[in-house]
Amino acid sequence: MKELSRIALAVEPSATMAIDSMFKQMKAEGQDVIGFGAGEPDFATPDHIKAAGHAAIDNNDTRYTPSSGTVELRKAICARLNADCGLDYDFKQISVSNGAKPCVYVALRALVNPGDEVILPSPYWVSYSELIRMVGGVPIIVHAAEADEFKITAEELSAAITPKTKCMILNNPCNPTGSMYSREELEALAKVCLEQDIYVISDEIYYSLVYDNAEFVSFASLGEEVKERTLLINGVSKSYAMTGWRIGYVAANHQIAQVIANYLSHCTGSPCAISQKAALEALTASQDSVESMRLAFERRRNYMVERMNNIPGVSCNKPHGAFYIMMNIEQLIGKEMHGQVIRNADDFGTLFLKYGKVAVVPGTSFGAPNFVRWSYATSIDNIKEGLSRLERFLRGETV
Ligand SMILES: Cc1ncc(COP(=O)(O)O)c(C=O)c1O
Repeated sequence: MKELSRIALAVEPSATMAIDSMFKQMKAEGQDVIGFGAGEPDFATPDHIKAAGHAAIDNNDTRYTPSSGTVELRKAICARLNADCGLDYDFKQISVSNGAKPCVYVALRALVNPGDEVILPSPYWVSYSELIRMVGGVPIIVHAAEADEFKITAEELSAAITPKTKCMILNNPCNPTGSMYSREELEALAKVCLEQDIYVISDEIYYSLVYDNAEFVSFASLGEEVKERTLLINGVSKSYAMTGWRIGYVAANHQIAQVIANYLSHCTGSPCAISQKAALEALTASQDSVESMRLAFERRRNYMVERMNNIPGVSCNKPHGAFYIMMNIEQLIGKEMHGQVIRNADDFGTLFLKYGKVAVVPGTSFGAPNFVRWSYATSIDNIKEGLSRLERFLRGETV
């Protein structure tokens, strides 16, 4: 048979999903394992949102909608972006699709020609590098150090730009690091993007999960010129515990929005009509449930960071957003544990799952081979037990 697409063959499977399925398999076998791999809130979708989904079915809202989403949902997105981020979009600038992930893809599709370079700060969400390659782009990784809170500077961004650079992907707050850029830091990056004529895909899917009263600043809110060259990605998955409903969106200038709308109309068609009604309820009703989930995440983060930093051999930063912690395992590299030398985060992840019965995500696939990612989108009891298991594992005990 003839060769398959070279672009498709080059796509790596998602490492975060791989560890999750290993964990699920062990669980299905009846093993007592605890998972810290998941990138989704452990809370149920709030009842009033679920009710809107039921009502959509009962009211026969079960047909195709416009391929970029219903006008009422796109208007609700504009209103929410205005209320939460001070942004002023009209609904024609919003394209809704099946989650934020395809929105990142279609945003890249709208910008990138084969061979164009896309700047990607690392550690990065595992899908970005593959998505860039899937559109024929070249990821240019700019390393952000733990000592700099995993954030790149304007100078580092400048140094990575070449005549082939088309855009940068900014993920703020960031998966996997939980880092969040301040207004000043964003302004410095935006200045470079304006001077160098670079677009920015700003993935702000974790924008409502921000702690310590820190100010979240949406990249597009930095000024009209910045907004013109920003493709803002967001959605309901993380803020409203709606990962399975599959609603995300991209907001962009009118020209880009039209290109995206055309693209989506052929490749995905309309997003799920029922989910759109549920998302409409999420965005327009009281935001109390968002705040109670945020508070729960903040409590878990506080507990986890404090305890982890008291465990010999590992350490972590205190992140200001999302629901992830990057645990530094540098001190363990080269050491023998449970009869095996730990060469990198992959070795650590495999051994920890085998002997500690805890699933974390090795940072190797995020561009951070000396770190593993813990998601605290799980109960405080699991967090306590997971950290106790870490202590035992590091002492050489088997759980
Ligand atoms: C940074 C980031 N962007 C986008 C997504 C995908 O969101 P969705 O479930 O809406 O496709 C995720 C999910 O893990 C994410 O971490």
